[in-house]
Amino acid sequence: MANFAIMGFGTVGAGVAEVLRLNGERIAAGLGEPLCLKYILDVRDLSGNPYADKVVKDFSVLENDPELDVVVESIGGAKVALEFTRRALLAGKSVVTSNKELVAAHGRELLDIAREKNVNYLFEASVGGGIPVLRPLFQCLAGNEIEEIAGILNGTTNYILTRMVQAGISFEEALREAQEKGYAEANPAADVEGVDACRKICILSDLAWGREVPPEKVSTQGISGLELKDVGIASGAGYRVKLLGRAVKLADGRQCAYVAPHLIPSDSLIAGVDGVFNGIMVRGNAVGEVMFYGQGAGSLPTASAVMGDVIDALEHREKRRSLGWSEGADLADFGELPMRWYLRGDFPVPAGCEVLEGGAALTGVLTAGEAGALAERLGAAALLPVLE
Ligand code: HSE
Repeated sequence: MANFAIMGFGTVGAGVAEVLRLNGERIAAGLGEPLCLKYILDVRDLSGNPYADKVVKDFSVLENDPELDVVVESIGGAKVALEFTRRALLAGKSVVTSNKELVAAHGRELLDIAREKNVNYLFEASVGGGIPVLRPLFQCLAGNEIEEIAGILNGTTNYILTRMVQAGISFEEALREAQEKGYAEANPAADVEGVDACRKICILSDLAWGREVPPEKVSTQGISGLELKDVGIASGAGYRVKLLGRAVKLADGRQCAYVAPHLIPSDSLIAGVDGVFNGIMVRGNAVGEVMFYGQGAGSLPTASAVMGDVIDALEHREKRRSLGWSEGADLADFGELPMRWYLRGDFPVPAGCEVLEGGAALTGVLTAGEAGALAERLGAAALLPVLE
């Protein structure tokens, strides 16, 4: 019998219990032993909940139980979750999480503790919800030099953009729908301002290149400043506007990561990623481009990835999964990246630009720094990168 606990019984934690209820027999057959949900740690009153008999309020019950193998951390945030994750790892428990804030900010330290204690710290669900992307990146693609990662990494903003365009509803209405469906963060500003996507592109970069990319060093622009007018002009010109997290390895060996709404060609694979779905492109020097697609948020999809990690942690009890990164990525500034740009405003279209309807234009290839200077000189009302 293998025992695990869930810390934080919200959208993800309850989803993990439900996946066990649905698929417990199959999971046990694969593991070769039953998997038992022994504790649920939550400060809320869960009396009346079908899992009420599992609820404990004191973390030390988990910490001191020698028969507890794995702890799922679905508390969120980087305060209590950090303390309990540290203590669980130090107590010799493997920890599995969907908490991208914690992994992006403290993953290196927590993975170091996991290595010292010969346990696993796994976080597949922290990027792309239910999509298997981290394990393919560090395992199946390990023979590649990763050149670029670009993806729709936030289900809430993709849901909002899709509903605004396809259902013609307001930003506020679409956000409310996303919250009701359990996609949004507790504070949806993290979704809308690109912070959540930033954390995810940091984790992808950490794993792809083995050096820590701190979220505070990543240029991050969300969708709150985006005007529907630009989404409409882009559609008319054969583009879709999508919030992308992007990380590239430059020819000089430095790397760059940023988050911004982009124009992407309507016929590209990633432009067809709508609603709460995420789509992540990884380009390796041997494999070429591979795409990962699926539900990037929501209770059961996220719990699916968490449960996969619980099983993996149990299967790697003797020889832990070797995972980690060191500090200090050599980062290039976003301003150095060369791309084409979408500009809109009341100005004569500069020479060399492609004219679009509605007072907009597409520039030739400029660095972000040059494009920003041009937009300022012209007094442009909108400036967005174009990824082709
Ligand atoms: N708020 C996140 C999203 C949840 O919308 O993608 C999954 O990380």
